[in-house]
Amino acid sequence: MPDVTLTTLNKLKQNGEKIVCLTAYDATFAHVESVAGVEVMLVGDSLGMVLQGHDSTLPVSVDDMAYHTQAVKRGNRGALIMADLPFMAYATLQDALRNSAQLMQAGAHMVKLEGAGWLAENVSMLSRNGIPVCAHLGLTPQTVNILGGYKVQGREEAQAKALLDDAVALEAAGASMLLLECVPSALANQITAAVKVPVIGIGAGSGTDGQVLVVHDMLGLSISGRLPRFVKNFMIGQTDIAGAISAYVTAVKQVEFPAAEHEF
Ligand code: KIV
Repeated sequence: MPDVTLTTLNKLKQNGEKIVCLTAYDATFAHVESVAGVEVMLVGDSLGMVLQGHDSTLPVSVDDMAYHTQAVKRGNRGALIMADLPFMAYATLQDALRNSAQLMQAGAHMVKLEGAGWLAENVSMLSRNGIPVCAHLGLTPQTVNILGGYKVQGREEAQAKALLDDAVALEAAGASMLLLECVPSALANQITAAVKVPVIGIGAGSGTDGQVLVVHDMLGLSISGRLPRFVKNFMIGQTDIAGAISAYVTAVKQVEFPAAEHEF
């Protein structure tokens, strides 16, 4: 299979084929996931919670992200690698440029940042400098202290309209991809239809152009013993991790996941 690029992802959107994205933090998982057909591997700052054991993503540093991005690059067999800019790594334009360069030099093909319309300047400056950007909207875990918890976003009309306007503005600013976390499916569908770039969802229903999950979650691994409502445990019915990841790829491609019970 040829290497996955932004062109590949745009074609998948145009052809109505779902894009499969999954977090990866090390070489072995990167190898298993890319061989199984995961098209986008997200080196997520969720590593602060699932690898490091913190109760939020805030303690993760750019050096942590670069370390795991390098590992994922070594195991990758053709997927597009997207790396998160962690908390405070893009508070200024200078920070955004310097820290994105570090992640791209570590092996990322694209960076992801969390926020809303205020990110437009960052997005256009990064894309002008050759750094593709994914804008993460909706539930943005780096701002959990402002949001007051990990809650569904965009349920009210005014908030939903603001999210739609932000999505359109970020595409216009140069974002190459959008990621929607924990938003009502109807709103996710509206945003997906309103923009040309691929929209990846998590807890955003089956109408987005692709799906992402945290790999630990979809393997049924959790420190608290609870999994969020939008997660399916793909280990059930499988004998090994490679089987679970292949089942996830198939379920996303065939639009069997997410099902109604995983939506808001
Ligand atoms: O950090 C991460 O894993 C993420 C996903 C939850 C989308 O941003």
